[in-house]
Amino acid sequence: MKNRRQPAEPYRIKSVEPIRLLERPERLERIRAANFNLFKVDAADIFIDLLTDSGTGAMSNRQWAALMMGDESYAGAVSFRHFESTVQSIFRKRFVIPCHQGRVAENLVFSTILKKGQFVLNNTHFDTTKGNVLHKGGIPIDLPCAQAKSNDPIPFKGNMDTARLEEFIKEHGPESIAMVMMTVTNNSSGGQPVSLANIHETAEICRRYHLPFFFDAARFAENSYFIKRDEPEYRDKSIREIAGEMFDLCDGVMMSAKKDGLANMGGFIAINDERLYQQVTELMILIEGYVTYGGLAGRDLEVLAVGLEEVLDYDYLDFRIAQTQYFGEKIKEAGLPIIEPTGGHAVFIDAGRFLPHIPAEQFPGQGLAVALYVEGGIRTVEIGSLMFGGVDPLTGKVVNAPRELVRMALPRRVYTNSHLDYIAEVAEQIAEHKQSIPGYRVIKESQFLRHFTCDLAAMAPVAARA
Ligand code: F0G
Repeated sequence: MKNRRQPAEPYRIKSVEPIRLLERPERLERIRAANFNLFKVDAADIFIDLLTDSGTGAMSNRQWAALMMGDESYAGAVSFRHFESTVQSIFRKRFVIPCHQGRVAENLVFSTILKKGQFVLNNTHFDTTKGNVLHKGGIPIDLPCAQAKSNDPIPFKGNMDTARLEEFIKEHGPESIAMVMMTVTNNSSGGQPVSLANIHETAEICRRYHLPFFFDAARFAENSYFIKRDEPEYRDKSIREIAGEMFDLCDGVMMSAKKDGLANMGGFIAINDERLYQQVTELMILIEGYVTYGGLAGRDLEVLAVGLEEVLDYDYLDFRIAQTQYFGEKIKEAGLPIIEPTGGHAVFIDAGRFLPHIPAEQFPGQGLAVALYVEGGIRTVEIGSLMFGGVDPLTGKVVNAPRELVRMALPRRVYTNSHLDYIAEVAEQIAEHKQSIPGYRVIKESQFLRHFTCDLAAMAPVAARA
């Protein structure tokens, strides 16, 4: 990696979208009206939105031009052929099935090949992947490497624990397992990358036990960049060559193209197995759309064909990963502990360590997320006991998440370093008066995925600093 203090954006701005910072009393009013749930705050009332890196990226001039070339024919559109050949060349699979986002790819694949009671093994399932496995009667099992939990800044903390993988297969028998998956980068484990050595080992185990091996490739280009940077034998390989080596090792790919597709909507399944293609597409025509558009407009497919090529650009990725790292350093300097090393798409703040006066049951992550909005108009997301905790339906006991985190996801090509410096300044101010940040309690919640819609109440006044 080039040794730079402040990485410079490898693009210039041609079209701007105004954003507005409300006054502090207005922000307080908005967050109270939303019952302290940031999902319920209108985007127009947010200054900097780090809720997700999914579907929030900026398109390039070439993508905007491609939009006009969209062929909206129902079947066999030219835009589909562009999309198909691009996916075939990068992901090295014969059959390409477009769908409108990643979770539909998951739904279609698990509906087709998962038998009730079967396991799906993954380095770490993303929430929708886990949800889709459960919904089809399967059992999702996470097998992250032991280092995933440590706070040492070592590379490839997203890896699969291959020893545990093999033990699990031996213990339960290969017939009890529907597939093995690798999520790159490992979103639910700090956005940490997976090494090609680990992918080779996993693929080898799958071959030995005749198990299908699938990628969740939402952030495959970012993962490929980390391989080039940190795995010495790949230093001289291009991002495309590294991605090719990764995907040559698998049977199938599911991708939410809202991340490394550099598009606002889209996804796909790529496979070699003709029978599976037939099965998936039969179901797909029922629920998503015809096989050559899959819930997308022709112009979306055209934009994706360009985006999937652009994301392989070394200079783009070098800046992207350096910007995330720069942001992480700034947040650390402001006095907030983060997960290290920084991953690809986000900086994760360890709110549990930052706010030890708030117990996990009172959601320190939510305390910090609300403070970031009140102090700076910044939207982030709690990834802790509000998202993953709650009453266990089996035992009736309240369970907490393993860590109380706040994710600050960086949309692609959207915010400049100056926005990130602003956030770090807000974080520094928050650190100075962190004792006054209150905990929260849930006053109304739904049965599933409560964090999206729940109402919260503060345990002490939020405006203490005003
Ligand atoms: N897999 C991974 C690793 C993801 O991060 C996501 C979405 C999906 C699958 C589902 O894709 O949203 O297109 O249906 N992650 C977003 C996030 C929502 O904010 O991390 P989708």
